[in-house]
Order: sequence, then C-alpha cells, then structure tokens
Amino acid sequence: MQEITLLVNNRPYSGTVEARTTLADFLRHSLGLKGTHLGCEHGVCGACTVIVDGASVRGCLMLAVQAEGAIVETVEGLAAEDGTLHLLQEAFSREHGLQCGFCTPGMLMTLIELLRETPSPTEMEVREAISGNLCRCTGYQSIVRAVLSVTGRPGGAPGDL
Ligand code: FES
Ligand code: FES
Repeated sequence: MQEITLLVNNRPYSGTVEARTTLADFLRHSLGLKGTHLGCEHGVCGACTVIVDGASVRGCLMLAVQAEGAIVETVEGLAAEDGTLHLLQEAFSREHGLQCGFCTPGMLMTLIELLRETPSPTEMEVREAISGNLCRCTGYQSIVRAVLSVTGRPGGAPGDL
C-alpha cells in the first residue's frame, strides 16, 4: 500500500492505495466516482478518460499512485453543485449526443480538454479529438453537432467552458 494525496474535482483526498491500482479503479472503487467507465481496460476505447493536471488521460492506463499530488477532473465535476448541467452536457442532451451513455463521460472529458485549448474548433478538429473514443450506439454525427452547438461555429453560440 502507498500513501496518496490528490485533488479530485476540487476535493482533497488522502489515503492509501495498492500500488497496482489503476486511476480508474481508484476513482470508481475508492472514491465512488463511477461516472468514469471501464470498457476495454487497455487504452483503446476512451471510456475511462479523465483530466489530470489539465491533460486528458486514460484512467485504465495510469496508476493511481502516479496521480500523487495531481489535480484530477472527472465527469462528476462538470455539473454545478446545484446539479445544473455543464453547457456541453446540456448540448449532448439537446442534440441527442448519447444513447446508452457508456462512452459519454469519456467523450465529455476529451471534449472539455479540446474546448479549453481550442474554444472554436472546426468540425474536423472535433472529429479528430474524439477519434480515440469509441461509441457503439449514438454515432458520431450528433456528438459533433452537440460540440459545435456550444462554440462560435455556424449554428453554435459562444460557449462558457
Ligand atoms: S477502458 Fe480505458 S481506454 Fe478503454
Ligand atoms: S452512447 Fe452508447 S456507447 Fe456511446
């Protein structure tokens, strides 16, 4: 077991974790943040994507102990304290950007990173950003439409991301 201290969705956490525990398992089982999903568990599907120190990472490929001292953001941190959905979450809902929702947390965290770096991405940039996230049911068209609806692109509005 190893000591670990980190900030998750602006909440400090200190405790012990087995050295072999992945960040995704740590978030789900130790912190109860089950919005971070596990699909392939070997870095292919993107369902486990979270943001660590500003960059999206595969939670299944990173060990929890590697996040020592880091700032971690998960899908649970997107909505406001009063439950008001994040602009991008609202857009997913409005534009039918999800069906079963399994891929959605990873999609959202990947896209949050994109929109922070590129607030007004082209359709191609959005498609490229989510090219490492697999969705088996919605199809990517509505996801892309949801993203563009919160940007300054035609058909969208400036987002507050
Ligand atoms: S579960 Fe991590 S990439 Fe698929
Ligand atoms: S909405 Fe079902 S996998 Fe994407």
